[in-house]
Amino acid sequence: TVLVIDYGAQYAQLIARRVREARVYSEVVPHTLSAAEVLARRPAAVILSGGPASVYADGAPAVDRELFEAGVPVLGICYGFQAMAHALGGHVGRTGEREFGKTEVRTTTAPHGLLDGTDPVQSTWMSHSDSVQQAPEGFEVLATSDAAPVACFADDQRRLYGVQWHPEVRHSPQGQRLIENFLYQGAGLRPEWTTGSIVEEQVAAIREQVGDARLICGLSGGVDSAVAAALVQKAVGDQLTCVFVDHGLLREGEAEQVERDFVAATGAKLHVAHEADRFLAALEGVADPEQKRKIIGREFIRAFEDAEEAVLADAAAAGATVDFLVQGTLYPDVVESGGGEGAANIKSHHNVGGLPEDMRFQLVEPLRALFKDEVRAVGAELGLPAAMVQRHPFPGPGLGIRIIGDITQERLAILRRADAIARQELTRAGLDAEVWQMPVVLLADVRSVGVQGDGRTYGHPVVLRPVSSEDAMTADFSRLPYELLATISNRITNEIEEINRVTLDVTSKPPGTIEWE
Ligand code: XMP
Repeated sequence: TVLVIDYGAQYAQLIARRVREARVYSEVVPHTLSAAEVLARRPAAVILSGGPASVYADGAPAVDRELFEAGVPVLGICYGFQAMAHALGGHVGRTGEREFGKTEVRTTTAPHGLLDGTDPVQSTWMSHSDSVQQAPEGFEVLATSDAAPVACFADDQRRLYGVQWHPEVRHSPQGQRLIENFLYQGAGLRPEWTTGSIVEEQVAAIREQVGDARLICGLSGGVDSAVAAALVQKAVGDQLTCVFVDHGLLREGEAEQVERDFVAATGAKLHVAHEADRFLAALEGVADPEQKRKIIGREFIRAFEDAEEAVLADAAAAGATVDFLVQGTLYPDVVESGGGEGAANIKSHHNVGGLPEDMRFQLVEPLRALFKDEVRAVGAELGLPAAMVQRHPFPGPGLGIRIIGDITQERLAILRRADAIARQELTRAGLDAEVWQMPVVLLADVRSVGVQGDGRTYGHPVVLRPVSSEDAMTADFSRLPYELLATISNRITNEIEEINRVTLDVTSKPPGTIEWE
């Protein structure tokens, strides 16, 4: 494992992704871990991320020298680079000369492995005000820029490396090559972490975790739970029964699709639980997003517990119990629910922060360390059809967190129709693959005046929220063609009486999240 130490910038996740793209497994850990704690995890290499701080600022996270003395290869990036220089006796200057954005970097030495395959003058993306003026003893200066006399250094003896720029962002076009040079040449790692190896590893881990116990898997119709189920099915076959809970918060056609396509693709046993009444009763009058999420998370578990009897009857296993619940939890769900070390709780994903404390099941979460695109690759590897693995994400709490206000049957019916129209038109325009997902949100407590025919209307707005994203951790609004937006808007307002306004959300994440709740 390559550990990425997060110094508080938004780049640590991205670094981990790039390392994984180089087919080396990587995880993010907080900078509050001591050097001893980091080393105790026996990392194959360590990368120090950028961060907002200056090494001279009060409370700036320091890097313990010990980290550099253990023989573990280390790459420092931006703040991590400066902190490394500072810790090892180099000089970091507060020159007040900032470099921000696109910056040219010039190679100053004979070819060096860290810069293999990159141009002698390369375009990079920088964001710094302090700069390393003098490299620590034993380091060779490999590159320089206008405001950073030392923009890149290397000590091959100790296998310590650093760069002032951000190789992990796409705005540094040769950045991925640098990261690979560090991993393969500097740290001597090999690109062995492939989807095939993930499947093998997970299958073995699942078998070891569950033995010959029975499992159920909550299917949502989405990619993640389908891939998790397919993995478990591969590992333990008939010990698994999939349970699809129809909670009444589904989109049009969703239940039918799961019943048909999933079973056809995997051959897994499927039990459908019709639980709309239970969920809607529990959610009655609840408008607060976190409360909704907790209630939905809890009711899911209760519904799974109730499904146990039916599952065991199917399995004709008198006296047996179901001990494990399989969930398609992903790495970003864990991080965003505050489960990632040092991360804030942004929202309680129903399958992480929303779980009740007295749940009886033990969890099996084979995708817990993966990003969405990796899950899709695993799904393809397992033979799931493209239409299933390329589906847009849909949150487990469903339309429940897309009605702003409390949830009623009537509101659900309105939103379901608007959502179906938006999805149909996006597909018809051939843009499904351009867009990560496009929630439609009903502002149920907001009304506005409109005019239709000769009459006044006093209806509700819906919000279109098309976003582009690599992994849902960050996102930008999708620049959909105006023609398409016009068609969606016309159809929704014409076909759904209660809606008299269609608006477009043009916020990136951050500061917005993808869903409105
Ligand atoms: P946010 O709104 O946090 O969403 O930017 C990031 C991604 O996660 C999905 N999402 C969820 N998925 N259970 C899920 O299974 C949840 O509770 C949940 N909340 C958000 C969201 O649709 C987006 O893809």
